Amino acid sequence: MKIAINTGGGDAPGLNAVIRSATKAALRRGWEVVGLRNGYASLYTDNPGEPLTHEAVKGITMQGGTILGAANRGNPFEIPVLQPDGSYIYVDKSDQVVSKLAEMGVDAVVAIGGDGSMHLAHRLSEKGLKIVGVPKTIDNDLVGCDTTLGFDTACSIATEAIDRISTTAESHQRAMIVEVMGRYAGWIALHSGLASSADVILIPEIPFTLDSVIKKLDDLKKHGKEHALIVVAEGAKLKDGAHFVKGKQVGQAELLGGAAAWLEKEIMARTGQETRSVILGHQQRGGRPSIYDRLISLRFGAEAIRAIEVGDFNKLVVMKENELRRIPIADVAGKFKTVPLDSDTIMTARDIGICLGD
Ligand code: F6P
Repeated sequence: MKIAINTGGGDAPGLNAVIRSATKAALRRGWEVVGLRNGYASLYTDNPGEPLTHEAVKGITMQGGTILGAANRGNPFEIPVLQPDGSYIYVDKSDQVVSKLAEMGVDAVVAIGGDGSMHLAHRLSEKGLKIVGVPKTIDNDLVGCDTTLGFDTACSIATEAIDRISTTAESHQRAMIVEVMGRYAGWIALHSGLASSADVILIPEIPFTLDSVIKKLDDLKKHGKEHALIVVAEGAKLKDGAHFVKGKQVGQAELLGGAAAWLEKEIMARTGQETRSVILGHQQRGGRPSIYDRLISLRFGAEAIRAIEVGDFNKLVVMKENELRRIPIADVAGKFKTVPLDSDTIMTARDIGICLGD
């Protein structure tokens, strides 16, 4: 048996722990393991993969990033190719991916990724590739699972950063706005905002009004609190408004951002209160995974090998109600999970007086 492992999409803390456990579990069964570099990109080169050995995965459980490299432009169905006139054409190399893996003698692929990677995995499985997926994304927006690897670490980093920023808010009687990642879902904002006792949390699932935010700041002042902490998801949007978009790069999803800067300007203009905004950015994806992320990543990696061992292909290994399960990749491909408005987390935020902007 020979398997390949790839890490697609953005990096997330915990990827290396999956690579380690999947590799070791496979090697212990006498299988061969090959690591694909930068998503599927190495399959179009002369060096399509590198052998993963016990030595290669030694000591990587606690390392952030991915030893295999990641690729946001890694969709083999639409590879952007720069033309002499500066425009791009898109080339479909998906057949090459399938044939190259067959040529290398690869029987199955462990694809570690988020919604984009699972969408690709599903399309490649329709071309005959045998895949087992592992759910990765700091955004926690993959359907069918309670949590994805990287999310816990991202929330911890965001919470710690917001805690630190709150001291400046208090000392200077400022409104401090912290913009966190999460794409079109508010999981990171909601969890880190709650954990750091934010006064206002704005998430894409609940379009906000500026009036609602200003009213909360006024209420705080009436109760003697001169400073405020606002956590805003990068995907937050105004009622009847669109997401704040920073830009779009070739072959990639749109880049969200700008909500915090917009709020800073508007709050200062409307209230005169000293206001500052901070964008946490990629540090939320960086560095060592939390203990929880290390553990689920190790469990996901070994479970993927157990799935391959019994021929349970085209499944995504997930954590559901605290148990490992396998669900069809087809059921998650092309979908994404937002924060349910009736979730107890939302109700808790409201019950303790946090303004959600509506
Ligand atoms: O999906 C993970 C994520 O970090 C999102 O939260 C964010 O919107 C996006 O990736 C940023 O992408 P990039 O690394 O390409 O800037």
